[in-house]
Amino acid sequence: MMEVGDSAWWLGILLGAVPLLALAVWHCNDALYCAAFALRRRGLSRRLPPGHMGLPFFGETGAMMWHFKVTRRPDGFIEARKKAYGEGAGMYRSHLFGHPTVVVCLPSVNRFVLQAHDSFWVRWPAKELLGLSSMFNAEGSAHTRIRGYVVASFSQPRSLRNIARVAQPRVAAALRSWAEKGTIAAATEFRKLMFECTCDIFISMKPSPLTAKMDKWFAGILDSLRALPVDLPGTALNHGRKCRRKLNAVFQVELEKRRKQEKSGHAGEEEEDYADDLMSGLMKMVDERGKKLTDEEVLDNIVSLVAGGYESTASAILWATIHLAKSPDVLAKLREENFMLSKDNNSNFISRDDISKMKYTAKVVEEAIRLANIAPMVHRVAYRDIEYGGYTIPQGWQVVVWLRSMHIDEKYYQDPLIFNPDRWDNPPKAVTNQVFGAGSRTCAGNRLARLQITIMLHHMSIGYKWEMLNPDARLTYIPQPTPVDGAPMAFCKLSTSTR
Ligand code: HEM
Repeated sequence: MMEVGDSAWWLGILLGAVPLLALAVWHCNDALYCAAFALRRRGLSRRLPPGHMGLPFFGETGAMMWHFKVTRRPDGFIEARKKAYGEGAGMYRSHLFGHPTVVVCLPSVNRFVLQAHDSFWVRWPAKELLGLSSMFNAEGSAHTRIRGYVVASFSQPRSLRNIARVAQPRVAAALRSWAEKGTIAAATEFRKLMFECTCDIFISMKPSPLTAKMDKWFAGILDSLRALPVDLPGTALNHGRKCRRKLNAVFQVELEKRRKQEKSGHAGEEEEDYADDLMSGLMKMVDERGKKLTDEEVLDNIVSLVAGGYESTASAILWATIHLAKSPDVLAKLREENFMLSKDNNSNFISRDDISKMKYTAKVVEEAIRLANIAPMVHRVAYRDIEYGGYTIPQGWQVVVWLRSMHIDEKYYQDPLIFNPDRWDNPPKAVTNQVFGAGSRTCAGNRLARLQITIMLHHMSIGYKWEMLNPDARLTYIPQPTPVDGAPMAFCKLSTSTR
């Protein structure tokens, strides 16, 4: 039988030796990367950016997740590196999401990376989830071709008119139903509404038990986009891949339906007319040699566009309403502009032409997007060794462009945490406003996002009032910054005397 002394001895080993061993492995891992780099660059005075590669395989992903999930201060990850290694050139070596990485976090360096598309290619951590041929992952002419089509579909007058026509009745109906309920879980309701609008605009799919399931599958994809690359039962990546396969099956059926309709030349009695939606547009798209997209390209793009579009927009709307609930003066000005517009139009619905008249609303939209900080980072890979600020970003390394901290940094925004739409009277320099990224991969849906937020704010401000029931709730940051309690909100109709 084991004596008490034996157990104490084993416990001592466990508590003393294991952390020491982990520390040794931690140091050795970093030293190995530095040595491999030095060997490769023999004879050249090149340096890796300061930082640490963390533990083998896991790297510093755990440390990053700690800041996102436990301390709930995502920028703490960058602040810790600034404290340990100095601000320097605004870049740190690390190992994240399974890859050796350089994290860049100064506006000028971010812009350098985002604009040098011949040196940095895009690389999402689990790229097959969005689709290898989706616009998010495509490079070169394939990227330009699809991007051109998608950006045009979200910005041409006809498309904008169509989007406003499809989205507004759905928004108006949702607001009426929330007022009847009296209290809503705002995060869930906004997300659901934006998913329904997106499905209708992109794929002409109306809400049904199937779209409810699809909403869950998309959530599975979004949750696993930045997971460790481990595909075992129970891991986030494994779940994300299953969700992607289910969505592929649904969209393949949609594709066949459209082909049938195209052949017959008209919609059947029970069928939607798909003529104006994004999916049909992608199916009809031809390149300069008259070649159409393959089925796989259509599916990859439609899945990734829905995934990229609805949750980000819902999150911006949620934050706009949270800030408005806490800023009565701003809300009063917003109402005034929107009431005037409805009076002039003699209608509650806005048209594409009205958008340019909504100057104050536009500032509210920009300020909400800035403070929401929806995209914390974007991903690239160095196509060759890149020298910058006295350091080398080695070929093949991932580059994480840290977007979020600059939007709440007092160096670039006065009183950065105050919701102040009037700051947009003098818009910040483009280099310090990267909420939609920069360069040739600037968000392809930024106009659509702004339009949907504007529509939502218009209908909410002219007809409803709302109050946060737990205004100081803690936040969760994955996949989007959201109050942990789902932002419960008292929601009711505005009395006619207020209008
Ligand atoms: C407030 C809402 C949104 C925010 C903050 C946002 C943010 C971003 C950011 C930062 C990027 C750059 C990614 C990179 O550089 O790798 C991006 C790209 C992209 N976004 Fe958005 N986005 C929003 C809404 C939307 C919407 C509504 C769509 C509609 C489909 C969309 C579609 C895309 C696409 C397709 C790309 C890839 C562009 C390319 O690689 O050329 N986004 N978005």
